Amino acid sequence: MKNVLVKNLYKSYENQNIDRNYVLDNINFEVGDNEFICILGKSGCGKSTLLNLLAGFIKPTKGEIYVSGKLVQKPSAEIGVVFQDHALFPWYTVTENIAFGPKLNKDKNADKIAIRLIDMVGLNGYEDHYPSSLSGGMQQRVGIARALATNPKLLLMDEPLGALDALTREKMRLELLKIWEKTKKTIIFITHSVSEAVYLADRVILLEEGKVGMDVRIEIERPRDTKDQRFIDYVQMFKDRFTEQELLEVSK
Ligand SMILES: Nc1ncnc2c1ncn2[C@@H]1O[C@H](COP(=O)(O)OP(=O)(O)O)[C@@H](O)[C@H]1O
Ligand SMILES: [Mg+2]
Repeated sequence: MKNVLVKNLYKSYENQNIDRNYVLDNINFEVGDNEFICILGKSGCGKSTLLNLLAGFIKPTKGEIYVSGKLVQKPSAEIGVVFQDHALFPWYTVTENIAFGPKLNKDKNADKIAIRLIDMVGLNGYEDHYPSSLSGGMQQRVGIARALATNPKLLLMDEPLGALDALTREKMRLELLKIWEKTKKTIIFITHSVSEAVYLADRVILLEEGKVGMDVRIEIERPRDTKDQRFIDYVQMFKDRFTEQELLEVSK
């Protein structure tokens, strides 16, 4: 079943300062249920714009997005979003941050949901901590748990691991795959790292200057070994699409 359908999608901003007419220029793709998609591209190619459109935060100039068969016109509890700067409420504890969405929906099980998710993202013992007392990786776990709390069908993630140090980032990639396997969500994950995309995704969609440059299924079983020749070949295939200068950014 198709969870996401993006059809003839165009986006331009009033004050955009780029040398193309559209920030997103006729984007088309579908995402199946439970699929893990990575949107890969260099800075400025339109990744966050695409995510904000999928989340219903902004409106397309032309074209449509459907999630679970419904036209996306505004943000909804069916679509969870995780950002790089996790945007947690500093005055709420871990539990309160995670229970926030369900409470807003007047869900009587809000605290139970929070406890279950705390367990899933491995934050047992930190229930009453405030975000400022947690490491970056732990804050990001709270962000993921919070996005899952309203049980969305679709989880959108905009470079969620981008601010973490290399070691934490690698650990979180593995954690995220575990969470995905347990929850069976459809995930659209944005990254500018080629190896991160090849490590995580069922399918990598390469975004180039607002267009889909490649849409490639990664046919390697998980957990993936970055030293596997197939892994190296996929990484090289994507890297071939970038200039020397751009490679500095996408090789991280
Ligand atoms: N609100 C906005 N107004 C004008 N231009 C914007 C706005 N948001 C993004 N842009 C421009 O659109 C292009 C794509 O931005 P973005 O989607 O953030 O790319 P990415 O996330 O891939 O770095 C950039 O040139 C950026 O400057
Ligand atoms: Mg961005």
